[in-house]
Amino acid sequence: MFTKPLFLCLLFFLLPLPCLFGSLINLGRRAGVVTGEVSNKFNDSETYVVIFDGGSTGSRLHVFRFDDNIDLLQMNGRLEVYDKIAPGLSSYAENPDEAANSLIPLLNEALDAVPENLQPVTPIKLGATAGLRLVGEGKSRKILKAVRRLFSNSSLLFKKNWVEIISGTHEGTYFWVAMNYLLGHLGNDYSKTAGVIDLGGGSLQMAYAISDEAASNAPSIGEDYITKHYLKGKNYYLYVHSYLGYGERAGRAEILKSTNDSVNYCILSGYSGKYQYNGVTYNARSSLEGSDYNICRENVLKALNVSAKCEVKNCTFNGVWSGGGGAGQDKIYIATAFYYRASDDGIIEKGALSADITLADYKKATVTACAVNSLEEASTKFPNVETQNLPYLCMDLMYQYSLLTTGFGLTDEKEVTVVEKVHYRGFDMDAAWPLGSAIEAASTKTTSKLQMRNMYRFWAHKY
Ligand SMILES: *[C@@H]1O[C@H](CO)[C@@H](O)[C@H](O)[C@H]1NC(C)=O
Ligand SMILES: *[C@@H]1O[C@H](CO)[C@@H](O)[C@H](O)[C@H]1NC(C)=O
Ligand SMILES: *[C@@H]1O[C@H](CO)[C@@H](O)[C@H](O)[C@H]1NC(C)=O
Ligand SMILES: *[C@@H]1O[C@H](CO)[C@@H](O)[C@H](O)[C@H]1NC(C)=O
Ligand SMILES: *[C@@H]1O[C@H](CO)[C@@H](O)[C@H](O)[C@H]1NC(C)=O
Repeated sequence: MFTKPLFLCLLFFLLPLPCLFGSLINLGRRAGVVTGEVSNKFNDSETYVVIFDGGSTGSRLHVFRFDDNIDLLQMNGRLEVYDKIAPGLSSYAENPDEAANSLIPLLNEALDAVPENLQPVTPIKLGATAGLRLVGEGKSRKILKAVRRLFSNSSLLFKKNWVEIISGTHEGTYFWVAMNYLLGHLGNDYSKTAGVIDLGGGSLQMAYAISDEAASNAPSIGEDYITKHYLKGKNYYLYVHSYLGYGERAGRAEILKSTNDSVNYCILSGYSGKYQYNGVTYNARSSLEGSDYNICRENVLKALNVSAKCEVKNCTFNGVWSGGGGAGQDKIYIATAFYYRASDDGIIEKGALSADITLADYKKATVTACAVNSLEEASTKFPNVETQNLPYLCMDLMYQYSLLTTGFGLTDEKEVTVVEKVHYRGFDMDAAWPLGSAIEAASTKTTSKLQMRNMYRFWAHKY
């Protein structure tokens, strides 16, 4: 319950002066407020967090402002300061300093947004997405180093490990945090939270909260499936797994790989073309009869590795531990490519922020898609599908339906929410990792701040 310094103070209560002295130093400016001195604009009821998202196509800035309850506060009529620049850090592979300097306009915007006297206590972080790895180990390390130099020379609070390539596991974790925060679940018991499944291009992330008991009984299997997080005043144990190579684009490649020298029964009738992923080319050719639901399903299940050996008690697929299930996945939100397909393929209303569906709705769309007899018929029945996705209509739906049912063990009757944005305090907010990362930073900061303040009050009262 107590932080270490407070504990030490209580332990050595017979020698309180050093502690009192220490807390007064930490709270110097706050003390000014309490004793009625002029306090300029310092307001320690607010916490700002600055997050940079280093994507492959551009760099993005997010500044968030929280109150002591970790609720978002507005800045100029918005809940975040946001801007982006192109190209991304990886475009400056040959010149790390130029890469770092490309962030200066965004950094200046961040400094404009954060009050000067709060800047020394405002964390600045950068998460680069996996695209930065593609420039090579040595070059990406130099770029990150140059960014650290830039940040450490700014007036914001900086630590070396706050500039990193963000792993799929972290992305999944912070996505869960952002989603549950916007839904208003954080601060409640784990059983009231929602699980998330996020289908990206290259990888797939699954995250949900488990009970303390389940966390302490988790099998030790080399990989850290379970992490502990302090959020909005409460500890959560999260099960997170990132399935590398199982994103939508990567999944297509895996499905086409086994039929590179023949026809593929997931491809719509009359199409013959090439598919490229990660620099590898695959043939994508339909059979004479066109797509076939049952043969396509077999092909997809093989790509998912559903029959891979399970070394632990319960697996999802490809031999991955399932986390044991539980109340933290009673409600499930599915996002990104799940949203794009559901929206384009008519499973949910085009343009809806989110919608509740059952997996039977997915199945129905998949059956219809795999039964069309030509690309023309497909574009009539599925008018919102982009031309380049049309040949893969049956494949993409089959992949998603199979992931959710055979992969994650959900039934056709299961209701899930397809989500792009969440309505929060009058704004439509993206549940993306930068917000989740900011919430965790603010939760940690605010708690130590409140404990400091209480400690000060305690001693102020005593003397
Ligand atoms: C500090 O900020 C909080 C949250 O915005 C606000 O409610 C409070 O009135 C502010 N206090 C001062 C002294 O400005
Ligand atoms: C550090 O920041 C100062 C002022 O913000 C600037 O003048 C100086 O050039 C910076 N140094 C480096 C190495 O970026
Ligand atoms: C599926 O399993 C096979 C054989 O174990 C393996 O080579 C392949 O990489 C797995 N697929 C993925 C996407 O991990
Ligand atoms: C698929 O076949 C083509 C030749 O038709 C070849 O160039 C390509 O490398 C093959 N792709 C894979 C993944 O084997
Ligand atoms: C785990 O597997 C056991 C048997 O292997 C089964 O009885 C149980 O229902 C499974 N639990 C979950 C959550 O799937």
